[in-house]
Amino acid sequence: MTTQPTDHTLTGTDGEDYAALPDDTVRLALIVAMDRARCIGIGNALPWRLPADLQYFKRVTSGKAIVMGRTTFDSLGRPLPNRTNIVVTRNPDWDGPIGIRVVHSLEAALALAEAVAVVNAQDEALIIGGAEIYAQTLAQVSRMYITEVETTVDGDAFFPEFDRDEWRELSRERHHDEASDLWFSFVVYERI
Ligand SMILES: NC(=O)c1ccc[n+]([C@@H]2O[C@H](COP(=O)([O-])OP(=O)(O)OC[C@H]3O[C@@H](n4cnc5c(N)ncnc54)[C@H](OP(=O)(O)O)[C@@H]3O)[C@@H](O)[C@H]2O)c1
Repeated sequence: MTTQPTDHTLTGTDGEDYAALPDDTVRLALIVAMDRARCIGIGNALPWRLPADLQYFKRVTSGKAIVMGRTTFDSLGRPLPNRTNIVVTRNPDWDGPIGIRVVHSLEAALALAEAVAVVNAQDEALIIGGAEIYAQTLAQVSRMYITEVETTVDGDAFFPEFDRDEWRELSRERHHDEASDLWFSFVVYERI
């Protein structure tokens, strides 16, 4: 006698319940730290030293695909471990170190980031900067992890202007850095 299935659970040949896996909708998010005037950088470096923010960045991005401009990659100087580092450049001759994926358009960068997320059953891929890349991708992003630093610095790289009415605040955590005496908040925004 053959047994008829009684439900529609999708089970793979390995017995894994596919229905329990995340669906294939990958959220595109960005992560940035900015001052009150949306400044994000000075001389291709971060304007502040906030160890807790670097830890937060690591927590949010670990294991995921991260997309960055070639200039931001230069400022990091190495691929970030435990993440798929996707670097976008217009220069066909640019050749980064082993451990990064080089692409020559943002479309290619986002397609690769999405594919990596799907393969790894992750629900999110992240844009990590810098200014040029944020400006070109902001319209496609549905979540922003913004570290709002309560200062104003004289920098040369800025996050684009955005309409706060289009975003809902999901969470906010305020912290203090003793060494620099800076207050800053980890804020998560979702597009309305
Ligand atoms: N505070 C933060 O959270 C944060 C995060 C990241 C970066 N930053 C800061 O941001 C600054 C860097 O920003 P940035 O605007 O100068 O540089 P960027 O956005 O990191 O990179 C710009 C480069 O990306 C490539 N690129 C841009 N658009 C492209 C496209 N459509 N197709 C192909 N390649 C493209 C080009 O590389 P090629 O020139 O090689 O063609 C371009 O010169 C630094 O000060 C950095 O410290 C701050």
